[in-house]
Amino acid sequence: MQASAPIGIFDSGTGGLTVARAVRELLPHERIVYFGDLAHLPYGDKSTAAIQAYSVKICDVLLQQGCKVILIACNSASAAAFELVKAYVGSRAKVMNVIDPLVDYLRENMAERRIGLIGTKQTVSSNVYASKIDALKKGITLQSLATPLLVPMIEEGFIHNRVSQDIIDEYLSNAVLADIEALILGCTHYPLIKEEIRSYYKGGVEVLDSATIVAASLKALLEHHHLLNKGEEGGRDRFLVSDHTDAFEASTRLFFGQAIQLEKYPLWE
Ligand code: DGL
Repeated sequence: MQASAPIGIFDSGTGGLTVARAVRELLPHERIVYFGDLAHLPYGDKSTAAIQAYSVKICDVLLQQGCKVILIACNSASAAAFELVKAYVGSRAKVMNVIDPLVDYLRENMAERRIGLIGTKQTVSSNVYASKIDALKKGITLQSLATPLLVPMIEEGFIHNRVSQDIIDEYLSNAVLADIEALILGCTHYPLIKEEIRSYYKGGVEVLDSATIVAASLKALLEHHHLLNKGEEGGRDRFLVSDHTDAFEASTRLFFGQAIQLEKYPLWE
């Protein structure tokens, strides 16, 4: 494994670009190979077995690209496939998910608090956050709500408007989330509606999105293994997608903060 090798990042579609963006900002010398599995979006409604199969196939692509790290930038895939992917990749690359860095953050900062979690059906029903938080033994109470309308809403560009505000209000006013002191955005799509969520709580609830926390954790991992790219010329970033739609192309700027060029790379021919 060489420091000049790229970082592989994958998600079901666009959501993981919020993580890729945070990585780009914190680690400007790193080269990114992103894979958006548009052909199988959304993951949040898929079975564990299906998400595992897609994830392994994507790892093959990222390993072929010579990635030194594979970062699963999707909560649903992190919940369903992290252990399997780690075993599959073995010593060929480091593997990270987006859940453990956030749980580490809770351990350091949220002892004895009541925390809410919103995410896809897959993420919430997997109970991964709940079991990892219980294992901390820090007296943290977790109250979780699946919010499946949010991903298609965001994918359709329905943000900062009346409809999105109504849907967000409807979910956040659910009794399950009553009296929370902080809210985990347990889906990498949700940073795009962070401001709307914040304004719902009027500053009374800390809203935790994992993108910057995950990027910091990636940096620590690279430093620990002497894999940080100190500025060698690594080549350009690549953005691979298993299917291509104009809607995806249009929304990439929203998620990544700049226009990017997509390359179609079917997982199964
Ligand atoms: N971005 C994915 C996540 O973090 C959700 C999108 C999907 O359902 O595919 O869970």
